[in-house]
Order: sequence, then C-alpha cells, then structure tokens
Amino acid sequence: MKVLIVYYSMYGHVHRLAQAVAEGVGAVPGAEALLRRVPETLSQEVLEKMGAMEPQKAMAHVPVCSMDELAAVDAVIFGTPTRFGNMCGQMRQFLDATGQLWLKGSLVGKAGSVFTSSNTQHGGQESTLLSFHITLLHQGMIVVGLPYTFVGQMRSDEITGGSPYGASTIAGAKGERTPSDNELDAARFQGKHVAEIAAKLCR
Ligand SMILES: Cc1cc2nc3c(=O)[nH]c(=O)nc-3n(C[C@H](O)[C@H](O)[C@H](O)COP(=O)(O)O)c2cc1C
Repeated sequence: MKVLIVYYSMYGHVHRLAQAVAEGVGAVPGAEALLRRVPETLSQEVLEKMGAMEPQKAMAHVPVCSMDELAAVDAVIFGTPTRFGNMCGQMRQFLDATGQLWLKGSLVGKAGSVFTSSNTQHGGQESTLLSFHITLLHQGMIVVGLPYTFVGQMRSDEITGGSPYGASTIAGAKGERTPSDNELDAARFQGKHVAEIAAKLCR
C-alpha cells in the first residue's frame, strides 16, 4: 500500500512536517510513504528575492510528483503553506492539472488529507485546510482530518498548531520558528491515521 505525501514548501516548514507525516505512514505495517514536491512556478529571480534559495537547496533531492503517481497510490496527503488564508499557487496549479484524473475518476474512493503552515497563529490555517478539502471532495476522495484522539491539539500550555482539520505549524513572523515536538507529533499521527484508513479501504 502506497501513501503519497505531496507538498509545496518555500522555506522548509511544510517540508519538515511532510517528513514527520512520512514517519507516521511508515509506522503502519505494509504502508510505504512516497515524498514528492509539486512543481515550482516562480522564477529563480523571484525565489532569490524571497530569500528561498538556501531552503530550496535542502529540498532539491525530493522528486517532483507526476500525475501517474497521483493516480497509482492508495491515499494522498497534501501539504501547503498558507497564502492569504488559502493554499499556495504552486499547489493550486498542480491540482488544476488533475482534470484528466477527475474525468477518469482516478482519485475516487481514496483517502485524502491536508496539513499546513502559516506565519501567524490565526493567519488562516483552518481556512487553508477546509478550503483545500473542497477540491478533494470534487475528486471523490474521502476526507481525513486529525481526530481529537491526537490529544496534543487540546494543549493550551504552549502555542501550537493542529486542529481537527489537519496538522499544522506556526512558522513565526519571520519564519524563525521550527515545528515544535507537539506539531511534529500531530503530523506523525495524521500520517499513521491516513495509512490505517487506507489499509482498511484496500481490504
Ligand atoms: C504571498 C504570501 C502570503 C502569505 N499569507 C499568509 C497568511 O495569510 N497568513 C499567515 O499566517 N502567513 C502567510 N504567509 C506566510 C507563509 O504561510 C509562510 O511563509 C509559510 O507557512 C512557511 O512555510 P514554508 O517554510 O513551508 O514555506 C504568506 C506568505 C506569502 C509569501
């Protein structure tokens, strides 16, 4: 059983969560996690101006996702940074290229789930996750979130991402914060949860 984790990350926060999601998937016997990036749409010049060159180099080894891979796997977990309370343009463009898969019903009945990152605590994580779910539903996917059995999302002793809609991290106003242990636990939980559901669907 294969679970695809396909994401965009400019500065590395979503990338770090994706690695934790993959660890969670890998904890389920028989489940294999495939880490993939969506294609970049910005020029090198723009990426340079945005200060993204160094983190981009650190993620360069992750292969770019193909449409065939999306169709072939048993479940898909999407990761995107928040852009004005919504998914990023790179992810939108990738999803808008799935028209042929939609026509064939290739994703129908597969588990689909989303995780995210934003600079600020209330900067649109929930709206990003929930609005992403609309596309998954159009594709006929079974939307999977982060259940409250991941009790870390109820913490109020520290600032943390994570909601019933999916794992998330708060990157900080200047992107200076790295995902906390609790946020990484949420991402692992989500990966394991999706893989367990996918295994049941495969049976
Ligand atoms: C064009 C643009 C729009 C953004 N919009 C938001 C936003 O609405 N709320 C927020 O908290 N952060 C916003 N951010 C910050 C990103 O969400 C943040 O850089 C990202 O989560 C970091 O993840 P990454 O390291 O994986 O790229 C925005 C960043 C850019 C470049």
